[in-house]
Amino acid sequence: MKFKKGFTIASLGLSSMLLLAACGEDSASSSSSVGGEAEAVSLRLAHNQGEDHPIHTSLVELTDLAAEKSDDSVEIELFPNGQLGDERGVIELVKSGTLDMAKVSASALESFDSNYSIFSLPYVFQSEEHYFNVMDNSEAVQEIFQNTRDEGFFTMGWYTGGQRSIYTADTKVETPADMNGMKIRVQESPTSIAMIEAMGGAPTPMSFGEVYTSLQQGVIDGAENNETGLTSNKHGEVAKAYSYTEHQYVPDVLIVSTSMWDGLSEEQQQAITDAAVESSESHKAVWAEAIDQAIIDAEEMGVTFYEIDKQQFIDAATPLHETYQSENEDSKRYFEDFQSYNE
Ligand code: GCU
Repeated sequence: MKFKKGFTIASLGLSSMLLLAACGEDSASSSSSVGGEAEAVSLRLAHNQGEDHPIHTSLVELTDLAAEKSDDSVEIELFPNGQLGDERGVIELVKSGTLDMAKVSASALESFDSNYSIFSLPYVFQSEEHYFNVMDNSEAVQEIFQNTRDEGFFTMGWYTGGQRSIYTADTKVETPADMNGMKIRVQESPTSIAMIEAMGGAPTPMSFGEVYTSLQQGVIDGAENNETGLTSNKHGEVAKAYSYTEHQYVPDVLIVSTSMWDGLSEEQQQAITDAAVESSESHKAVWAEAIDQAIIDAEEMGVTFYEIDKQQFIDAATPLHETYQSENEDSKRYFEDFQSYNE
């Protein structure tokens, strides 16, 4: 956090190394209240997508709304393109209070708190309606989001990241047998690793930024993501077959540093909370439109989209639901809570 006086490091156009150093410099700031008035703050929010990605559009909306709702006492500065590090790295920074906020995949949080594994369970959501219903209303989701507060960070909002499917250099994947021996990149999430194993492939965890080159060099045979991976991240240049296994809806989440948050005034906290809810809601339409466009653009890049019968993948992967529920009492309760929203 930085009080809004003078220049921000970003406005000076320095390198990301310096930005990182600057994050550290500010970590000592604590109080935001002077004479009863909330002092204006400038918060840094990192994410790993480009400015053409729908999540960036919605994070810009978040920043606009936060400023508007706080009478300009909250400024959020965006650092896209992974310029402050990969997801694991930025989570560490937020956790230590060095960085204020980050947008990461819920899968990336699994290594920090195993409760997050439910978001990576394949086929845990039966439809988009079920997914939105859980994310918007479930108390279990809120409990998981708040759970890490004492460890330095928590989740205060979510954005849809659509559905994830398998894509490979050129081979359509129709059955788990087709994935035999295929190295498929997954996020650094134990559940996603187990999922690809169950679905017949050889999981290869790596950070998102390494996927393009790994596909290009044949280090991996494929990856799995929503359709924007093909276009915004250019994977469609090197992966031409996208098969709709539709195995996960993994939400993108907005994490904040607990120490930063506790230093804000109540009004500032409310402004950011309301801005997150509103931008999450409008992101649903932003996302739907972006996916339609991504499909058109990917086809122009030579990608073919294959509608397949998912049943064999569902049968192969759903035993993971039992494994998850037997982990502990919370996991069983969370799973049942999620399923209760499937009307
Ligand atoms: C999605 C998600 C990113 C994540 C990426 C990945 O694109 O929005 O936050 O990094 O998947 O597969 O790593």
